[in-house]
Amino acid sequence: MSLPKLEVILSPAEFTTLSQRDLSQAVCVVFDILRATTSMITALANGAEAIIPVAEIAEAVALKQKNPNLLLAGERDGLRIRAELTGSIDFDLGNSPREFTAEKVSGRTIVMTTTNGTRALRACSEARIVLVSSFLNLRATTNWILERKPQHLILVCSGTGEEPALEDMLAAGALCEKVWSNYAGGRVSDAAEMARRIYPLMQSDLLEAMKGAKNGRRLLANPDLRDDVRLCVQRETILFAVTMMPSGVVRKLD
Ligand code: MLT
Repeated sequence: MSLPKLEVILSPAEFTTLSQRDLSQAVCVVFDILRATTSMITALANGAEAIIPVAEIAEAVALKQKNPNLLLAGERDGLRIRAELTGSIDFDLGNSPREFTAEKVSGRTIVMTTTNGTRALRACSEARIVLVSSFLNLRATTNWILERKPQHLILVCSGTGEEPALEDMLAAGALCEKVWSNYAGGRVSDAAEMARRIYPLMQSDLLEAMKGAKNGRRLLANPDLRDDVRLCVQRETILFAVTMMPSGVVRKLD
């Protein structure tokens, strides 16, 4: 039997190569703490039916044209996508988790495109199972992994722009810490070791840690988006795990 394997992917340069690998036995967990996966999980907690992550604005608009009942959500440069970018319509929602209220999303299916998070999800689409996670529901994700004990676990950090993001690495580190004993005798990447060692240094004040993150600073500097950061570092407020199904649709995991 092969040794268990734990990897942490830190940047888009790495996650774009996932499509060239055989992921048929891998479980991928995707993090975009600030803010895409946090927003998706919040939307599902507030009753959204499903989320369809797409990489490009044009794909999102084409889906909406086919099915006008869909809600469009997402950002470019952190801001809601407007008609200047789509060439036609404004998106219904941006990428702030505070926007995904029950009033707006309950019972709805949301097509979402963001700079990194939805790209990272699409890059994992060939994995055996894809989990979508955040600090909000990290315990549910952890429990799923501890119960299923996947032989090959890949934690995918969406990053900021083309670079690694501190907040995603911290979430990956928190998960590494919890599942470490399943992989310690196996093949563990240096990035997993780094993430696991960094999380305990910063875990006591994640909000303060966000000041050291590029996207954290950008959001904190914007009076309209500042409050997102506090919400995104809350822990264990949502008790279910989330998956992206083979169809590419993101839903609660039963
Ligand atoms: C992304 O997908 O790149 C992020 O969620 C950016 C953001 O904070 O909106």
